Amino acid sequence: MLQALHALLALPALAYAYASPESCSGECVVSDPGLIRRESDGKYFRFSTGNEISYASSDSLSGPWDVIGSVLPDGSSIDLDGNTDLWAPDVHYIDDTYYVFYAVSTFGSQDSAIGLATSTTMELDSWTDHGSIGVESESGKLYNSIDPNLIKVGSDYYMNFGSFYDDIYQVPMNSAATKKSSGDSAYNIAYNATTDHSEEGSYMYEYDDYYYLFFSSGACCDYNVDLPSPGEEYKIMVCRSKSATGDFVDKDGTACAESGGTPVLESHGTTYGPGGQGIFDDPTEGVIIYYHYINTDIGYADDDKQFGWNKLTWTDGWPSV
Ligand SMILES: *[C@@H]1O[C@H](CO)[C@@H](O)[C@H](O)[C@H]1NC(C)=O
Repeated sequence: MLQALHALLALPALAYAYASPESCSGECVVSDPGLIRRESDGKYFRFSTGNEISYASSDSLSGPWDVIGSVLPDGSSIDLDGNTDLWAPDVHYIDDTYYVFYAVSTFGSQDSAIGLATSTTMELDSWTDHGSIGVESESGKLYNSIDPNLIKVGSDYYMNFGSFYDDIYQVPMNSAATKKSSGDSAYNIAYNATTDHSEEGSYMYEYDDYYYLFFSSGACCDYNVDLPSPGEEYKIMVCRSKSATGDFVDKDGTACAESGGTPVLESHGTTYGPGGQGIFDDPTEGVIIYYHYINTDIGYADDDKQFGWNKLTWTDGWPSV
């Protein structure tokens, strides 16, 4: 009886608890994953930060994930420090071609650029590097040209990116989605004034007449060296707008250009610092969120980060895990 009462009292808390990451087997160590299925055979391909963009494939979201190798084994043709340590891949299928946008940068530097590699098959050594898409930054700019994320709006393309420095920016792209549209300059779409500007890793997704802007907020890395104060580590937030190019608000109606954002996934249980997320419409699971996270039973180093994913549930137009 007492136990039943306890179970009942625990329910409201449970209703708000985050689901644990789904299981993963094979190669599960990733940072900033990017996910797509191959049109020809439905195989999943998962790209991630480092090692000239590491990638792996699997017949199922939960693995086993088999390492394929690197997208650009010789690094990027972009002439910047960091051009053999490429970051934060964003993958799309456009006109029978797989596009992988990547960032060239070094930790803590604003000397950064976004590049593009393409392939029609995603097989090893099938990739062509196209170098910079024209989204570049240097020290003193408001933004940092990292963490690319492309969105198609009607027949137009936009590149969301950034930034840590002054947070999330956007710039229109050309009709082939290969370069920044000439003459257009980037504008801010999300900004947290209450902190030292650490929103990054955006992913925009259209669902039911809204554009949802997911982003990672807080300290991303090196937790084994410098553990942030509780709550300051990575977490995944979301804002939405009827327009893909601005006016994003959170669930309470706070503008996301003015510090707004609704949490989607935060540290819980043995899951710590989830971020680097993307959204994927899976034919069997429905709309999922995938991300990296620290499993506190495994370790806090950047190369301990694990691949996680969960189904998204939509309530009153807002997604939750
Ligand atoms: C803004 O920063 C504060 C302080 O770090 C943090 O508590 C809050 O969650 C952040 N908000 C967003 C939308 O990222």
